[in-house]
Amino acid sequence: MNHPQYGDEVNLNVDNEWSNLDIANLKAQSVLAILRNQNADGAIIASPDFAQYHYSWLRDGSFIAYALDHAGEHEAASRFHSWVTRTLDGIGESIDDVVAKMLNGQEVDPLHMPPARFSLTNSTEPDDWPNFQIDGYGTWLWALGRHMEMTGIGVLSESLRTTVDRVARYLSTYAFSPCYDVWEESRSGLHTSTLACVYGGLCTAAHLLGNGEYLLRASDVAKRVRDSSLPLGRYVKSNESNDVDSSILWLGTPFNVVSSTDEVFAATVREIENALTLKGGLRRYPTDVYFGSGAWPVLTASLGWHFVATGNLSEAIRCRDWIVQRFDDQGRLGEQFFGETRDSTSYSKWVDLWGPPAKDLVWSHAMFIILCEEIESALAVSGSTSNLRQTNNEKGAS
Ligand code: BGC
Repeated sequence: MNHPQYGDEVNLNVDNEWSNLDIANLKAQSVLAILRNQNADGAIIASPDFAQYHYSWLRDGSFIAYALDHAGEHEAASRFHSWVTRTLDGIGESIDDVVAKMLNGQEVDPLHMPPARFSLTNSTEPDDWPNFQIDGYGTWLWALGRHMEMTGIGVLSESLRTTVDRVARYLSTYAFSPCYDVWEESRSGLHTSTLACVYGGLCTAAHLLGNGEYLLRASDVAKRVRDSSLPLGRYVKSNESNDVDSSILWLGTPFNVVSSTDEVFAATVREIENALTLKGGLRRYPTDVYFGSGAWPVLTASLGWHFVATGNLSEAIRCRDWIVQRFDDQGRLGEQFFGETRDSTSYSKWVDLWGPPAKDLVWSHAMFIILCEEIESALAVSGSTSNLRQTNNEKGAS
C-alpha cells in the first residue's frame, strides 16, 4: 500500500461506508500526526490546537514513544527518550534534593516537585501547574525499557544508568506519598493508576539496573494495590474514592500489576464498562466534569488493549472502530467526545475558560496505533487477517 507522506492532504472517507476505510492508512496518518508534533530535540507537544497543551508531558510522551516503537519509528522514539534524559539530567539536582528531603523527614512543597510536563522553550521554566504527579516518571521508565527491548539495546550506557537510577530512587521514595493523579487532579489521594505506573517503572528499572531493591519496592506497591481491592472485591480509583476510573485498566495492560484475566480485575473492568461507557467509548471517572466528561479515545483504546490481552478480539476491534469513527475529515483525533451533550453546563464552563477541547491530541493517535498494532499481532498469531478491515455496521454513535 502507499503510505501517505508528511504534508499530504488527509483524505478520509469518514462519511462513507466503513468497509472502504483502510485501517493501515489511518494508522500511518496517526504516525505522521505524532511526527509533526515532535520538535527537533525530541519533545512532543500534547496537542497543536489547544494552547494549554503546548507542552511535552512525560505521561503522554511515554505512551507516544511506545506507539512510535510499535510502528517501527524507533529513531523518533529514541529522540524522545534522549530529550527526556537530557531534561531530567538538567533537573537532576532537584530530584536528588527532594529524595534526600523525604528521607530526612523534611517537608517538600508540592509546587517544587519535579515537573509532570516541560515547556519546549525552556525545559526547567517554573510554573504553577500541579507538578507533583509521579506516574509519568514510572511510565517513562517503562517505555524506555520497551524501547530498548524493541530495538535490541541490551545494556544501559553509563550516563543513562545514572538517570534511570535517579528516577527509580525518586519513585521508590515517593511511591506511597499522595500526589496528583493521572488526570492532574485529587492532590491528596493515593491513586491506583499512579501506583500501576510506578510499579511498571520500578520493575523496568530493577531489570535494567539489576537492582533487587527496586523489585522489592515494586512488590510492596503491587501488594498495596491488591489489598485495596479486598473491601469491594474490585479495584477502586484511589484510597479516597471507591469509584472506578478507566485508567485502572493499566493495572493489567500494560503494567502487569495484576493478570488481565484475574477475577477481581475482570470484575473491575465490568464495573468500568457499566459505569463509564458513553456512546460506545469510555469516560474517565463517574464524577468527572472536564469538558462535560466525554468519552476518550485514549481510554477506549486502553479497554481494547485489555481485550487483546484477554483474547477477546471482537471487542478489541469494536473499540478500535469506535476510535476510527472519531477521526475528523482532516485526520485529527480529539481528546474527548460527546461531553457537550452529556453535561452541557460543565462543557460550557470549560469552553469559557480554555476554549473547545483539544481537536487533535497526540496521545489519542498513539493509543490508536498501539491498539491497531496489538490487534494485528494477535490476528497474525491466530493465523487470521480477515478482520483487519472491519465493516462497521453500527455507523455513528450508538
Ligand atoms: C489530562 C492528562 C494529560 C494532559 C495532556 C490533561 O487534561 O488529564 O492526563 O496528560 O491533559 O494531554
